[in-house]
Amino acid sequence: MPAAQIRSRATRKRTLSIFIPTVLLLFSIPSSSLAANTLTQGGPAVNSSATLVSPNGLFTLGFRRSAAGSYLGIWYINATSSFFWIANRDFPIRDESGSLSLDQDGTLKLTYSGGGGAAVNLYSDSRRRRLIATLDDTGNFAVSDVDSGDSLWQSFDSPTNAWFPGMKLGLVSGENRKVTSWLTESIPAAGAFTLEWDPTAGKEELVMKHRGVTFWTSGKQLTPNRFTNLDLRLQRVNYNVSRVVAGPNSDYLTFRASTNEYSSTNQLSFTVVRLRYDGVVEDVSTRIVILQSEDCHGNGTENGCRRWDGPDCRRSGDGFQILWGTFSLGQWVDGNSNMSISDCKEQCWRNCECGGISLDGVNRNGTGCRYFRSGGFVQLPNQEGEDRYHVMIAGESQADTSNASRIKWIAVSVTAAVAVLIFALCILWFQRRCKLRERLLAELMATNAPSDGDEMGDDGDQSHNLKIYSAASIMIATDSFSPQNKLGEGGFGPVYKGKLSEGREVAVKRLSKRSDQGLVEFRNELVLIAKLQHRNLVKLLGCCIHGEEKMLVYEYMPNKSLDSFIFDETKRVQLDWNKRFNIIEGIAQGLLYLHKYSRVTIIHRDLKVSNILLDENLNPKISDFGMARIFKTNTSEANTAKPVGTYGYMSPEYAIKGTFSTKSDVFSFGVMLLEIVSGKKNYNLIPLDPPIDLVEYVSYELYSYY
Ligand SMILES: *[C@@H]1O[C@H](CO)[C@@H](O)[C@H](O)[C@H]1NC(C)=O
Ligand SMILES: *[C@@H]1O[C@H](CO)[C@@H](O)[C@H](O)[C@H]1NC(C)=O
Ligand SMILES: *[C@@H]1O[C@H](CO)[C@@H](O)[C@H](O)[C@H]1NC(C)=O
Ligand SMILES: *[C@@H]1O[C@H](CO)[C@@H](O)[C@H](O)[C@H]1NC(C)=O
Ligand SMILES: *[C@@H]1O[C@H](CO)[C@@H](O)[C@H](O)[C@H]1NC(C)=O
Ligand SMILES: *[C@@H]1O[C@H](CO)[C@@H](O)[C@H](O)[C@H]1NC(C)=O
Repeated sequence: MPAAQIRSRATRKRTLSIFIPTVLLLFSIPSSSLAANTLTQGGPAVNSSATLVSPNGLFTLGFRRSAAGSYLGIWYINATSSFFWIANRDFPIRDESGSLSLDQDGTLKLTYSGGGGAAVNLYSDSRRRRLIATLDDTGNFAVSDVDSGDSLWQSFDSPTNAWFPGMKLGLVSGENRKVTSWLTESIPAAGAFTLEWDPTAGKEELVMKHRGVTFWTSGKQLTPNRFTNLDLRLQRVNYNVSRVVAGPNSDYLTFRASTNEYSSTNQLSFTVVRLRYDGVVEDVSTRIVILQSEDCHGNGTENGCRRWDGPDCRRSGDGFQILWGTFSLGQWVDGNSNMSISDCKEQCWRNCECGGISLDGVNRNGTGCRYFRSGGFVQLPNQEGEDRYHVMIAGESQADTSNASRIKWIAVSVTAAVAVLIFALCILWFQRRCKLRERLLAELMATNAPSDGDEMGDDGDQSHNLKIYSAASIMIATDSFSPQNKLGEGGFGPVYKGKLSEGREVAVKRLSKRSDQGLVEFRNELVLIAKLQHRNLVKLLGCCIHGEEKMLVYEYMPNKSLDSFIFDETKRVQLDWNKRFNIIEGIAQGLLYLHKYSRVTIIHRDLKVSNILLDENLNPKISDFGMARIFKTNTSEANTAKPVGTYGYMSPEYAIKGTFSTKSDVFSFGVMLLEIVSGKKNYNLIPLDPPIDLVEYVSYELYSYY
């Protein structure tokens, strides 16, 4: 899957935040610091109780303990994952004896006694110079010569699992600098994935390797923030990735990060791109997934994925999927603690007997592989108590080859013809859209102009000043449309809760990008609602147009929609008869206004209980005008070729013949009335013989009554 889409959906956030706290818990943080960012020759050392802190307070260099042992590294003050650089990732220290000092003889030395005990020189200078070692504001720890100012050694020269702004990735003085993932979520030892820059002429791309085998490639760099298979636009962070070629032995990538229009200015005090143990690349400051390489299932060749080598039993559609359930045909394990999930997946892919692997590994620290025999998987509903597995899913079997080549040729020629046609149509369509957008914008401006002497409804004192919101303010208000803020799915797109900077709560309707009706509906809804002011109609505050994105901003209704009350056993009891009467009356008032008392006749066409919102006092407000139609007051009936609306609420003449008028709305109102009084959904059939719906049932009862 393309990284771009996934990342912009930002749906990964939830999965990330589940494991981040556990990682934090694994590492205990030392309490005091050296109150400085510098080690001097012969001066105090960094040890289990003393750290260095960068002048801006954002980065700390010190020792931290985990289950595997103690590590010397650099972490961020508000770290969402513990270390971004580690000096001893492959040899954790077993006790608290670790110490980092800059000796009189010019050696930056890591010493410890636990786990065998040793002294490791991070840097050693034979010429006796005056040296200092400094942790700076970018998170770089560097040894430099006090007199000349020359930088002699720096942590940025030996990346571990993170790529910092300013850090070089690629060929530097003949040395290949790359980022290497951890082994597992909590074990910093060098893991399976690397991210590197391939400067070879003709390639010139970022490459992710799995155990040395190419797993994913970025393709050519197109702009500072876009590669063929990696799109960094639309992030909260502006990545400016530049390639530097400095002689035959130096060809590398480096990046600068800045805030973009979607971020509030103080957000970006820090950003680091991290390669996770599972091959996912994420931005640590925003926790946004930049590259979801887990979607390279083995089978895929899309979006830069490289198909895995494997036996013939692995066919083109096969791939791994995470599923809940159990395996019934047996299992076998490999306790090798050098192996983690991605290694297990690869081994499983190579073994025709294997139908899946456990997500938990074998050993307590998550290493090792547990394989399950293929064919015995039973999928169960996602719930507590069930286990999750990476399950090998078989694709469609390969077609017979002789037929296949003929089909291929036909397919190719048909595709070519269709492509030409579509291209032509696209151009036409695009031109039309541009015109539409211009018209829309013009209309917007007109609605925005101060209104004089407009006829208002019964709240006639309000003017209909529509505010135009910036994309940035909407992104901040809704936390980049985070799933937690989603209120529901309206006609033409999802609705999110948001909080504007001035503290006002709003509901933001985001029109689906691909819906071709979107722009027309948007215009409809805007123009309509801007003109409407009534106590029982939801109030539109403004809108936002950003490229393809169109958003409507409404007042927020804390009690959501009516259906969440009347169809809910527990919430229903809050609606006594007085309240229900009040709601019915309110809807009727709103409808009457639409049909009769506003300047134009408006037919809503999609009245239903889920389109009735409730304010804090349970007053009803009609919402969702995406399908509404305006009429000059003297005509009141029209035809449409394609009836739109919700089945079960449509009047028979509208559903069958497409004729609609204010009477169609009244029919829908009647259906709602029955639902509000009975607490039953119209489309839930009443079990008679034959089963009938609520409307039929009521008419039947009425007939038998008379
Ligand atoms: C850590 O270093 C500080 C300063 O160099 C020193 O005062 C302290 O005793 C050391 N602690 C340990 C446990 O070695
Ligand atoms: C993980 O556990 C295995 C088995 O208990 C052990 O051999 C291995 O050293 C552990 N790995 C780390 C990094 O602690
Ligand atoms: C760290 O987190 C705290 C609490 O969330 C916040 O108040 C503080 O501003 C953050 N610091 C930085 C530098 O981001
Ligand atoms: C990206 O960075 C380079 C230098 O690193 C600079 O020349 C260029 O203007 C920057 N581009 C953008 C779009 O910020
Ligand atoms: C690869 O496998 C996954 C998981 O079964 C599947 O969702 C995907 O569509 C497959 N891709 C291709 C190109 O066959
Ligand atoms: C794990 O990897 C290390 C280093 O590559 C190697 O020395 C060791 O033999 C491996 N252990 C196993 C059990 O394969």
